[in-house]
Amino acid sequence: MNDMNGVPVADERGADSRTDATEKSGLSRRQALGALASVAAAPAVAMGEAAAAPRKTAMLAGSTNKKAFIDDLIARMTVDEKVGQLRLISIGPEMPFAKIVEEIAAGRIAGSFNTVIRRDNRPLQEAAVQRSRLKIPLFFAYDVVHGHRTTFPIPLGLASSFDMKLIERMARVSAVEACNDGVDMTFAPMVDISHDPRWGRTSEGFGEDPYLVSECARAAVRGFQGTSPDQPDTIMAAVKHFALYGAVEGGRDYNTVDMSPLRMHQTYLPPYRAALEAGAGGVMVALNSINGVPATSNTWLMQDLLRKQWGFKGVTVSDHGAITELTRHGVARDNREAAKLAIKAGIDLSMADQVYLAELPGLIASGEIKMAELDACVREVLGAKYDMGLFANPFLRMGKKEDDPADVRADNRLHREPAREIARDTLVLLENRNQTLPLKKAGTIALVGPLADSGLDILGSWSAQGVATQAVTLRAGIEKAIAGKAKLLTAHGTNVLDDQKVVDYLNYLNWDKPEVIQDPRSVEAMIAEAVEVAKQADVVIAAVGELRGMSHESSSRVSIEMPGSQRALLKALKATGKPLVVVLMNGRPLAIGWEKENADALLETWYAGTEGGNAIADVLFGDHNPSAKLPISFPRSVGQIPTYYNHLRIGRPFTPGKPGNYTSQYFEEEQGALYPFGFGLSYSRFSLSGLKLSARKIARGQKLTAEATLTNEGPYEGANVVQLYVCDNYASIARPVKELKGFRKVALKPGESRVVRFEIGEDELKFVNGDLREVVENGHFTVQLGLDSREVLEQGFELA
Ligand code: NOJ
Repeated sequence: MNDMNGVPVADERGADSRTDATEKSGLSRRQALGALASVAAAPAVAMGEAAAAPRKTAMLAGSTNKKAFIDDLIARMTVDEKVGQLRLISIGPEMPFAKIVEEIAAGRIAGSFNTVIRRDNRPLQEAAVQRSRLKIPLFFAYDVVHGHRTTFPIPLGLASSFDMKLIERMARVSAVEACNDGVDMTFAPMVDISHDPRWGRTSEGFGEDPYLVSECARAAVRGFQGTSPDQPDTIMAAVKHFALYGAVEGGRDYNTVDMSPLRMHQTYLPPYRAALEAGAGGVMVALNSINGVPATSNTWLMQDLLRKQWGFKGVTVSDHGAITELTRHGVARDNREAAKLAIKAGIDLSMADQVYLAELPGLIASGEIKMAELDACVREVLGAKYDMGLFANPFLRMGKKEDDPADVRADNRLHREPAREIARDTLVLLENRNQTLPLKKAGTIALVGPLADSGLDILGSWSAQGVATQAVTLRAGIEKAIAGKAKLLTAHGTNVLDDQKVVDYLNYLNWDKPEVIQDPRSVEAMIAEAVEVAKQADVVIAAVGELRGMSHESSSRVSIEMPGSQRALLKALKATGKPLVVVLMNGRPLAIGWEKENADALLETWYAGTEGGNAIADVLFGDHNPSAKLPISFPRSVGQIPTYYNHLRIGRPFTPGKPGNYTSQYFEEEQGALYPFGFGLSYSRFSLSGLKLSARKIARGQKLTAEATLTNEGPYEGANVVQLYVCDNYASIARPVKELKGFRKVALKPGESRVVRFEIGEDELKFVNGDLREVVENGHFTVQLGLDSREVLEQGFELA
C-alpha cells in the first residue's frame, strides 16, 4: 500500500489496502486509513464460554498494588510476549480477522486502534484473556477527536466558544458514546498550536494561543477521563502530537519543524504539558522532526523533557508507521536501527508498523537493547491497561453480548441536544451591517451555495463514525426553523472546487464512493440559476467555504482564498442588491477581505457537526445570540502568514497613522490581521469600561486585581468574552506585544452590567528566559482588558 504521501508503507497489512472486506464495510478509504475500518465483514470466531459476562481476570484477584502487579507480570513474560505488548495494530483486510485472533492468542498484540464495534472487539478480547498464556487484556483505541457517534463542531470551533465547560461536555458525551462502542482510549486532545492556516490540521487544533489551547486541553482531558480513566464511562486521553507538529514548515503536512527552544517553551509546549497536568494518561508522538531529530527518535523530547523535566508517567504511542519512517527521515540505516532509536527514545507503542515485532528480539539478543529498556516500555503499556481498568475487567466498556446495540448507527445512540447547544456557541459573527441578522421567519429566503445541503461536509474532518445522513444540513435546519412561516428557494450556485486535479486528490482517500461529487453544469449556468433564485427572495443566504477534506490531515493548501468560483457566485449575488448573508464553512482562517467588505452579514460556522444546520438556523433567526470569538487570527492574504496576535516586540514596528518606510510592513497591503484573535460580534451591543487596577505597584508575592464593567447596551440577552492580556514592557529578552492570561464569558440581560475581575500575580507575569528558566522579572507591565485582542483598555503597573 501507499501512505497518504503515496510512499510505500511497510505496515502490518502488507501490499495493498484496497480489498473487498473494507469496501463491504461501507467505510471510506479515508476512514480506513485515518481511523481504520470495522471488522464487521470478517468471519466471526466461536465464543468461549467465559466470554458472555464481564469478569475479573484471574491474575488480578487479590492484587491491588499496581507496581507489584506489573512487576510480577513482567517477571513472567517472555521476550516475545513483551514485544507483543508494544504493538498497536490496525485491523484491516490484510491483517485478517482469523490471523489477528491467532496473533492475540499468541500474546503478540497489545491493542488495536480502529475497531469500534463491540461484537467485533469481543472475540478479540476473548482471544486475549482466554487463550493467551498470560491473559493480558487488549485495549481498543480510536480517534475520538470532536465526537464519536454524535459529531460535535471541529476543535477550532469548540475553541471559539471560549467556554471550557462546553468543551468538557463535548468530551464527556463523546467518551460515553465511545465507551458504549467498547473504546478504551482516544487519541485526543489534539493541542498543536498553529500559526499557519495553510496546514489542514489547523482545523483539528484549538488555535494559535498557548493559554487558550492549554485551557481547552485541560477541559477535554477532564471530559474524556472523568474522575478516572478506569470507569466504564470514561476513556483514557492520549494528547497529541508531541511535539510542535503545528509548526511544520510552510504549513505543509509532515514537513520539518525548526524552532528556537525559547519559542518552544513559550508558545508551543505549554498545551501538551497542560493536558498532562490534567492527567492525560497517554502521549502520541508527532511525525515531524524537531531541529533535525524526528520526534520518534528524539531522546531530548521523549526522555529529558517529557519524562524527566515534566515527570510524565504514562504511555507513549508512535503515530501511524512513524518508527519505520525513521529510515525515510534518514536518521536510521534500516528498520533495525529505527527500532533501536525509537525504543531508546522511549516510544512505548508502535502504531501500525511491524518494526518492533521484527527487530526487537534480535536487538535484545545482541545486547544492543537492554532488557531493562524493553521492560520500561512494557511497564507503561501494562500500566495504561491497568489504569484503564482492563485488568480488573477486560470487558469493562464493551459489556455483555446481550446488550450489544442491534444497530450501531441507530439515531437513538446520538446526543443531539448537547450537539445543538454546543454548536450554536461556536459560531462567530464577523459582520452584521444594518442589523441584517437576525432574520425574520417571514417572506422569501434564498439559500444558495455548494455547502448549503451537505451532510458530509458539515461533519468536519475527524468524524469517522459520524453519518452524513444523520447530520442536519443548513438547508434542513432552515426549513425546520421557518416551516409554515416563510418560503425557501434554493440553488447550488457553484461547486466548491473547479480544479479536477484537486477533486481527484481529495477523492483519492475514498475508494468506496467519491466524497466530492461535482455538479457537471458550467459555472455560468449554475451562477445564473442562483441569481434568478436570489432575485425572487427578500434575503440571500450563501453557504460557501471549503470541503471538509480540504481541512484535514495531508490537506495543506498553497492559498487561503475562497476556493473555486465561490467568490464569483457571491459577487453575482451581491449584484442583485438583495441583503447577502454569507455563512462560512471551513477549517482554517480564509482570506475573506471581499466578504468582510461586501457581505451584509458574515457568520463563521467552521464545521458545526451533526446538529450544525439546526444550530446555525438558531443563530440566523435569533433564537440564539452568537457569542463566540476567533481562536486564531485571520490573515488578509497568504503572504501575511504567519499572522498571530502575540508576536514579539521588534525594533521597527509598523505604526498606524505614520506608515513611513523602514518600519516592519508589507507595503502593498493593510497591516495586521483582517480579523484579530478574540474577535466576534453579538446581536447585542456590549461595552467594556472603567478599567481599574487595585494597585499601581506590587511587590514579589503580591497580587493585584484588574476590573472593568461589561454592559449589555443592546436589545438582546447575550454573552460576551472579557479577555485579559498582559504586556511585559521590558525584560531580559524581547517579549510579546501582549499575551492572553485570562478570559471570562459573561451572560447579561439587556441593560444589565457586571464588574469583571481578574487577579494578576506571578503566574500571569512569569516567562521562560534566555536560559530556558521560568522567571518573573521586576519592571513595568501593561494590563489590557478587551472584547478582542485589538481594541483594549489599558493601564500600567510596576512589579518592584
Ligand atoms: C495519523 C494521525 O496523525 C493521528 O492523529 C491519528 O491519531 C492516527 N493516524 C490514528 O488514526
